Amino acid sequence: MESNQLFCYKLKFKVLIKSVVYIETYGCQMNFSDSEIVASILTENDYEITKDINCANIIFINTCSIRDNAEQRVKNRLIELRTIKKNRPKTIIGVLGCMAERLKEQLMEDEKIVDLVAGPDSYRTLPNLINIVSDGLKGINTELSIEETYSEITPVRYNSNGVSAFISIMRGCENMCSYCVVPYTRGKERSRNFNSIINEVKILVSKGYKEITLLGQNVNSYKYEDVNFAKLLNIIAKIDETIRIRFATSHPKDLSNELIDTIALHPNICKSIHLPVQSGSNHILKLMNRVYDREWYLERIRKIKSTIPDCTISTDIISGFCGETEQDHLDTLSIMKEVGYEFAYMFKYSERDNTYAFKHLKDDVPEIEKIRRLNEVIKLQQELSLNSNKKDIGKIYKVLADSISKRSATHLSGRTEFNKVVIFEKQFNNIGDYVMVEITECSSATLKGKLVN
Ligand code: 5AD
Ligand code: SF4
Repeated sequence: MESNQLFCYKLKFKVLIKSVVYIETYGCQMNFSDSEIVASILTENDYEITKDINCANIIFINTCSIRDNAEQRVKNRLIELRTIKKNRPKTIIGVLGCMAERLKEQLMEDEKIVDLVAGPDSYRTLPNLINIVSDGLKGINTELSIEETYSEITPVRYNSNGVSAFISIMRGCENMCSYCVVPYTRGKERSRNFNSIINEVKILVSKGYKEITLLGQNVNSYKYEDVNFAKLLNIIAKIDETIRIRFATSHPKDLSNELIDTIALHPNICKSIHLPVQSGSNHILKLMNRVYDREWYLERIRKIKSTIPDCTISTDIISGFCGETEQDHLDTLSIMKEVGYEFAYMFKYSERDNTYAFKHLKDDVPEIEKIRRLNEVIKLQQELSLNSNKKDIGKIYKVLADSISKRSATHLSGRTEFNKVVIFEKQFNNIGDYVMVEITECSSATLKGKLVN
């Protein structure tokens, strides 16, 4: 019997298990990592996790609040879930994560199908909240904590490819970028116990994982007792030199020389840094409370490039922030060219309740103008990515195969240490193998190549 059929069977005949839970995740990598913690807490309490929503009698949606469109997606999904609730009224529907934290009881008032609301620091109470809902009440916990890091919980990687895994090394953020809702939804910054991180790395290595990404809103400010992020990386890189280590995200203000030197020192720390710039204009960076200016950011880039010449750099950019003039926008385009980013996540500014910008600045760039500027940013990034990819043609890279290509079942997809996606024909190799690939073609998004010995 297929495992999902087995879950459905159990659900039908109520044997062996308490309940079957389906978790759907939206938003950042941190949320995907949190869903694995939720899965761990639930399985420890005799719940089963299913990948088939039709087999579930508990449905959790782990949500994101970073921009309005992220919340709209979840709201639309909740509308779709009404059908399930109608057909199977006993199904418990829970909203987890940032939207739960931001909207609290209001979520239950607005979305009548929601029975349970749990913020990012309250996942240990989920079994209890489920019991409360089973007794016919509404279950809610949106308490934020100053110490919760779920440190000793080993995530259940129910969606894993067995090759790449995330490890959360810290939670929360207190940088107070003026546009950002995260400090309000994820609370104060706290670093996870160093030993528990090392243990988790060792468990992953023993299970055959090949790539580990250390996660946090700002991993560069990791600090547990006398271990800072550079020291943590240094120790993790030495655990097994065949394991690739990645990390995200870095705030430029905390990208130290010690960290750059550590990345340079270890061949298995990937040579790719995500360093969100947000804007190229000093006037806007100040309004955003990013606490660095353009010159300081460019100096960090020079330091990276002089220490690790091949290092790729990616970024986040917000177009149309409060008070952004045409000149500010041109400054963003010019910093993009100056750095020559390999990749960027690009957004138009979305005003969020409670933030400094919401309270004190004016969202005054007209929507049509935001869209135009964002489109220019996207177009430029496509050119920059294409230029960078073209330079890879003819080169040979060590690629870690991590999935079947989405476009062709006869091809594998993998990544170089520079975090570029490479598609190549599947021969004797499998997902999880390192292979040498010569790049033969490219688009702005991917490289294509052929296997070499
Ligand atoms: N509007 C648009 N983009 C935002 N980001 C964060 N808050 C907002 C907002 N209010 C972007 C930033 C951040 C990324 C995770 O999301 O670029 O780095
Ligand atoms: Fe938000 Fe800034 Fe913290 Fe990133 S560093 S999560 S943008 S407040």
